Amino acid sequence: MIKLEDFRRNVAQINELDPIVIEPQTAEGIWVTDTHGKKYIDMLSGICVDNTGHKNPKIIEAIKKQCEDYLHIMVYGEFIQKPQMDYALRIKELLPHNLTQIFYVNTGCEAIEGAIKAAKLYNHREKIINFTNSYHGATLGCVSMLSDEKFRKDFQPLLPCVDFIKFNYEDDLQKIDENTCCVVVETIPVGEGVQMPKNDYLKKLRKRCNEVGAILILDEIQTGFGRTGTLFAFEQFDFEPDILCIAKAMGGGLPLGAFIGKEEIMNALNNHHPLIGHATTQGGNPVSLAAGLAQLNCVVDILENKNNIDENLTIQEKGEIYRKELKHKHINRIEGIGLFNAIYLNEGVDWQKILISCFNHGIITGTHLFNPNAISIKPPLTITKSEIKESINRILRAFDAV
Ligand SMILES: Cc1ncc(COP(=O)(O)O)c(C=O)c1O
Repeated sequence: MIKLEDFRRNVAQINELDPIVIEPQTAEGIWVTDTHGKKYIDMLSGICVDNTGHKNPKIIEAIKKQCEDYLHIMVYGEFIQKPQMDYALRIKELLPHNLTQIFYVNTGCEAIEGAIKAAKLYNHREKIINFTNSYHGATLGCVSMLSDEKFRKDFQPLLPCVDFIKFNYEDDLQKIDENTCCVVVETIPVGEGVQMPKNDYLKKLRKRCNEVGAILILDEIQTGFGRTGTLFAFEQFDFEPDILCIAKAMGGGLPLGAFIGKEEIMNALNNHHPLIGHATTQGGNPVSLAAGLAQLNCVVDILENKNNIDENLTIQEKGEIYRKELKHKHINRIEGIGLFNAIYLNEGVDWQKILISCFNHGIITGTHLFNPNAISIKPPLTITKSEIKESINRILRAFDAV
């Protein structure tokens, strides 16, 4: 076992909750087992990465197979790489027809940065519109899109020309105008909890972007890959983006991200001179893509109820059990869709004590970046009914102990 002080001295950390420290030994399905043999239920899925469960055998098999052929060879574009083509063709079958070209990267923030660069090369405008209290990553470009000054002040100067509007506030849509290059939006913003779109808001946002020629960039980095009950959450709100950004669950546990856009926008990036409109050495790594393709097919099977486990409950039905049964004096409400849910604590309840008690009761969870009173309920989509009941039981006992 590794001592915490030694780990911290050697590996840079940002964890502010000292008592919550585990050293995982193995992880399988919804379970993470530490070096003492204690078992935890993962209610975070590695922050929406391990959607089809830890150590999913189909993903492991795909990784092994690709490892036998080749690992990294060349930055893509120069060589024709089959894993890149296979993934592109499969995901395109599942997406709206206007999203034709995929640019592979490694992480979510890279996907967002690449999408913004493509938008800039396409319409040559400067203004970027983002939403208050939304998070798209930790690179300097993405930090420029954090609305709260306390997250920005130590990194100035940041990107100019970023303006903020409030999600679900229709009056704010007028701030999107002829100078706006792009709007970056999460389908279901997750910074403060789980914020559902209301009154056709996303359709109205789409319409406003069309009116002024702004590019609509959709961040489905958390909501993607079955989390909300459809492959992507936007399918439930009757609109389509110009560019879709994905990552996290995309790699099935390996690093992988992408932005997928309309041909004319992606061409602006591909035809840019000098050459590097956007680039990344490891983007589209063949092993990550093999894992990603296996993961994508597993998610589709789950959504089509082909996994034949545990009464074949849909993702919505699984989420509904949490939304119905998680009632406690410390809980104000639970909101969400599918297995993308947040518990909102009552005022005065100490969220740190809640998190620590959850860990003590074998539940891995966390809070939302801009609202620590919102606790995540996002287990792997493969969770069974009896595992859901077990997790609810543990959560309620953890809350009782606070
Ligand atoms: C909604 C959203 N967008 C973008 C990102 C950034 O992704 P990454 O950490 O892979 O850069 C995150 C990360 O948590 C996220 O939650």
